[in-house]
Amino acid sequence: MSDVPVIAIDGPAASGKGAVAQAVAERLKFHHLDSGAIYRAAALAIDMAGGDAGSEQLAASDAAAVASAMRLEFRGDTVWLEGQDVTLLIRSEQCGSNASKIAVLPALRAALLDFQRGFRRSPGLVAEGRDMASVVFPDAGLKIFLMASVAVRAERRHKQLMEKGINANMINLAIQIAERDERDQVRNAAPLRSQSDAVVIDSSALNLSQVVDLVIKNYLSRKN
Ligand code: DC
Repeated sequence: MSDVPVIAIDGPAASGKGAVAQAVAERLKFHHLDSGAIYRAAALAIDMAGGDAGSEQLAASDAAAVASAMRLEFRGDTVWLEGQDVTLLIRSEQCGSNASKIAVLPALRAALLDFQRGFRRSPGLVAEGRDMASVVFPDAGLKIFLMASVAVRAERRHKQLMEKGINANMINLAIQIAERDERDQVRNAAPLRSQSDAVVIDSSALNLSQVVDLVIKNYLSRKN
């Protein structure tokens, strides 16, 4: 147990967790953990090691061994795997889908636990993912479950990708998001679901700063 405060933000793919968590962390001067980036990097590390992260035949123990041995570093807004800048590489929809496939493996999830918990440093942490509130930081002082409709999420993801110069089709994105939702929610190991003590925010009709304000308001009201 640690007395460093944690705000856990969980939610489905493209729900805006990343932008919200980053902005909340900046406002509170807290650290930020993007746990999805760790799963994405693990998928890439498995491919780099000659495995196939997207395959049903992938051996769980091999995948977990690669994940626990990978050399992963977050430097500012960039992500480095084995000394290589993989910031853009891990953002592809393919990598997100592979991450969701390997994320069903309990041994791999267990291999990543300590690394994630290591981000809990003073003065506080905003951690985003699927199991921040349920598994990684069950004692988080504030748990947020952020959701939005599939149509809104596909539209946001489309905008995000186009801004990065990556071409994408909105219908395909909606299908991929729905598939990822299904896999992340029905898996046995740490499935995505809202915890009974979480504050649920539906951001379908809210903009980024409205969601950030809501999270901060909830945090400050609990703290005082
Ligand atoms: O948040 P994201 O879309 O970058 O995450 C990519 C995949 O990684 C997601 O579909 C499931 C997996 N993941 C997970 O299982 N647990 C987490 N805490 C974060 C991500």
